[in-house]
Amino acid sequence: MSAGTPIRRIWPAPSSGPLDEAELTHLYRRAGHPRLRVNFVTSPDGAVSLHGYSAGLSGEPDKRVFGLLRMLCDGLLVAAGTLRHEGYRAVRLSEPRRAWRREHGLTEYPTLVVVSRSLALDPAQAALADAPVRPVVLTTEAAAPPAGLTDVVDLVRLGGDAVDLAAGLAELRHRGLGQLLCEGGPHLFGALTAADLVDELCLTVSPLLAGAGPGRITAGDPSAPRPLGLRHVLAADDGVLMLRYARAGAPAPASAAAG
Ligand SMILES: NC(=O)c1ccc[n+]([C@@H]2O[C@H](COP(=O)([O-])OP(=O)(O)OC[C@H]3O[C@@H](n4cnc5c(N)ncnc54)[C@H](OP(=O)(O)O)[C@@H]3O)[C@@H](O)[C@H]2O)c1
Repeated sequence: MSAGTPIRRIWPAPSSGPLDEAELTHLYRRAGHPRLRVNFVTSPDGAVSLHGYSAGLSGEPDKRVFGLLRMLCDGLLVAAGTLRHEGYRAVRLSEPRRAWRREHGLTEYPTLVVVSRSLALDPAQAALADAPVRPVVLTTEAAAPPAGLTDVVDLVRLGGDAVDLAAGLAELRHRGLGQLLCEGGPHLFGALTAADLVDELCLTVSPLLAGAGPGRITAGDPSAPRPLGLRHVLAADDGVLMLRYARAGAPAPASAAAG
């Protein structure tokens, strides 16, 4: 699984060579406390998509870390917009990654958690209908589910106009989903930032200028800036950077400088 474009750490301490799967897993390891980690890919000129999709910005090193972050989480949070637009399929992991989860006392798969104000979701979409673990949908008090949706998902109603995300995260943690990974999209990221719920941002920067047109990785109403601390910089041999930031003031892992 470590075969592919070599990925090295270049900050804080350069690694002696390409990182293998175990070293990457250690760098992105689970926290000893509840955490919401957000993962995005962007271009250096700030695009969230290319021709409307994130795929054009991604590549093999990004996909490898994307899969690793899925392996490491309890709950995989995604906005309904991204779920629909990107045509999410059921969250599956390779057998080695399922084995890693079993060895670490986790369920074989993370739980998919969808955030939707309107409940305009297709119960037949594979992400929901074929999910190995029954997904959870965080929604509003009044949203009416389409026929068949409650056959395949658990609805959690929190908030009138928009989902109360702080209450949603508390509910997920109550259900044992302490390590949360959010894969976007930009409106959900903007709302999580506004509510000061983001503990970590993993950001892949792909080496191309997307040009004007695409939006940013965050969208919605303006909110207060949230300072971050840089935790590591990885570089793949194809020029892709992988940055990990944490909420400023959060303790850096003891091994951040040495490990
Ligand atoms: N570069 C990347 O890494 C990356 C990652 C993800 C997505 N993307 C791109 O982002 C684009 C999709 O973005 P988008 O504008 O559709 O934004 P989005 O955040 O994916 O989806 C917005 C929708 O999610 C639901 N939602 C988000 N926040 C909510 C809240 N606080 N309360 C209730 N519902 C909430 C609503 O769904 P309902 O309409 O169901 O109410 C809302 O209409 C696509 O082009 C996709 O390719 C890129």
